[in-house]
Amino acid sequence: MSRIENLLREMTLAEKIGQMTMTASSYAVTGPIIAGDSTDSIRDGTIGNLLNMVGAGPTHEMQRIAVEESRLGIPLLIGLDIIHGHRTLFPIPLGETACFDPQAWEATAREAAREAAADGLAMTFAPMLDVSRDLRWGRTAEGAGEDPWLASQVAKAKVRGFQGDDLADPAALAACAKHFCAYGPVNAGREYASVDISERTLREVHLPAFVAAVKAGVATIMPAFTDLNGIPMSAHKPLLQDYLRGELGFDGVLVSDYNAIGELIKHGVAADAVDAAVLALKAGVDIDMMADAYRKGLPIALKQGRVTMAEIETSVRRVLRLKEQLGLFDDPYRRGSTSESAATLAERRRLARDVSARSIVMLRNEKNTLPLATTIPRLAVIGPLADAAIEMRGPWWGAGEFGPHVDVLSALRSNLPNTEIRHAAGTMIDDPDDSGIAAAVALCENVDAVILCLGERSTMSGEAASRAYPDLPGRQRTLAEAAIERACANGIPVIAILFSGRPLTIPWLAEKADAILAAWFLGTEAGNALFDVLVGKVSPSGRTPMSWPRTVGQAPLFFGQRPTGRPANPDDYFTSKYHDVPNEPLYPFGHGLGYGAFTYTNLRASPQRADEHARIDVSVDVTNVGPHTAEETAFLFTRDPVASVTRPLLELRGYGKITLRPGETGTVTMSMAASDLRFLGADLSLVFETGDLEILVGPNADRSQLLSTRIELVAS
Ligand code: IFM
Repeated sequence: MSRIENLLREMTLAEKIGQMTMTASSYAVTGPIIAGDSTDSIRDGTIGNLLNMVGAGPTHEMQRIAVEESRLGIPLLIGLDIIHGHRTLFPIPLGETACFDPQAWEATAREAAREAAADGLAMTFAPMLDVSRDLRWGRTAEGAGEDPWLASQVAKAKVRGFQGDDLADPAALAACAKHFCAYGPVNAGREYASVDISERTLREVHLPAFVAAVKAGVATIMPAFTDLNGIPMSAHKPLLQDYLRGELGFDGVLVSDYNAIGELIKHGVAADAVDAAVLALKAGVDIDMMADAYRKGLPIALKQGRVTMAEIETSVRRVLRLKEQLGLFDDPYRRGSTSESAATLAERRRLARDVSARSIVMLRNEKNTLPLATTIPRLAVIGPLADAAIEMRGPWWGAGEFGPHVDVLSALRSNLPNTEIRHAAGTMIDDPDDSGIAAAVALCENVDAVILCLGERSTMSGEAASRAYPDLPGRQRTLAEAAIERACANGIPVIAILFSGRPLTIPWLAEKADAILAAWFLGTEAGNALFDVLVGKVSPSGRTPMSWPRTVGQAPLFFGQRPTGRPANPDDYFTSKYHDVPNEPLYPFGHGLGYGAFTYTNLRASPQRADEHARIDVSVDVTNVGPHTAEETAFLFTRDPVASVTRPLLELRGYGKITLRPGETGTVTMSMAASDLRFLGADLSLVFETGDLEILVGPNADRSQLLSTRIELVAS
């Protein structure tokens, strides 16, 4: 009999439920403080999993108590939110998505896993795969943006990166695809609010990334806090049991979100912990994180005949199997016992700098303001984020507090020793005090460029960080406008660097600043990466994975909208448009400038007639007509002009990159499977419909910038 079956025969009910319980240590606070010290419960086998603990020493000690002092010696599963790095921080996920490079996405997850595993951890609660089209939602920072295809690419890369080929590898972590599902469209972007979307939107937009994660072998999945069309996700039997476990065949561990099972009471679907435990178990949730509802409720529910021992054991089996796959039974101390060389750490920092630089999106660069010459004599570096090293971490910084983080000011000072650099914050990030603005503005004279470092505090995005006014907080706009006015009066160019966990609504800045860089939160090497881009050591190549609205009134805004019967027409009153703002975003999905400039010609697709089994190759010629060598990203979209149901105006199918010298032309070739063109028909079953297919390629999702051709889809 297997180890797991032997254990199950030995285990008491309390020990079984212990394996279905995860409780927090106090290292990180990622939810309401609920539990106290869990050491005794680990010793008596009634807590089998921990979160929010860090460090080889503490994790080893807890593991020792579990393995050496508990009756059955079952090792602990210890997890933490390793979202964008552990001690070395990489860009926040939204920012890192902007580099459009699966190898980079995978590499940073791999390095994060290595660092976290060296700290005794075996599980991360990542990647977050919630598609977000509403910038008000703070967790936008943690995902891959607005597009389901892109989120699926990130899902695959992140699962591979965290888990590697073998979960038992001492440097591998069990990944957790979260938050299943459709957490992104919370009502009005308000965190934890209700979600009400159609089955079609759910399947077309919010499920594909989870399908990709399951296909990639993700070990665990976390149901969302939210309710979907009236059923809280932690109790959503149709989606968790029937769809995820049944249809997709996911047999890994479902771990609840923090106290989410307990919150079924506040959702109004459970009267007490017993009800809540029954609902979650029946839905297939294996681990109760922080609610203690399983420990309180399941013994009673079992006595009442509302759950069966078989249902409990199914969950216990899954948890034990995960521990076995992680190699914890063979060597519970396999993680947390490796120390890393200085060379490994330096290599990781190099990766962080490289990926960070490639995640920066240059939104604007009038009159080739950037790059700056490395010989620039005088710079004014203004704004509350110029020297805010701690803010560079962004939300979910893991154990990033132990590492140094490079801010813009110190990076410029150390990399440009011959430049005179003047600095003043001018104002705080989100404080109404404007008493420092005049002094800061006074620095914007007699310099060769002004760099404005503006944006959000890192805790203004992430969990519980919705914003109704997602523009620059505090008095930063006043500071920026005054600084730009003074610099402009003196003919001095102004470069704005925006730090944020979401697109910001900054149309006024887009009109006034000469150059704008979206720097998200780039992590440990933020300042150095920005230096690399500012002086042209790296040509910016990031592309925004989310449309940047002009105003919050446009939210949710995304390129994959469905057509209306009355498309916007300025000459026709009764058409789909706003009276006060264009329909189009300030910057479309995929927008991002470099130090080159590119033209697209000669779009072609083959074959011209494709059946469901074909691969369709699409090529386009790209020429660098700019003054510098640079990388261009070409996006491939399709549009089905006539179908049995309305199809989005654009659907992303792929992208290709090319690096070209000034004057050089090259060909970008992309490919898609015709089977991926199937869609949900009127009855929500997959159909492949024949007829014309429009293929569009260009630098971003602004239709006016796309070349287009057609092929015909035919029956096989
Ligand atoms: O993993 C997170 C989740 O994303 C939000 N609530 C807390 C969990 C554990 O920290």
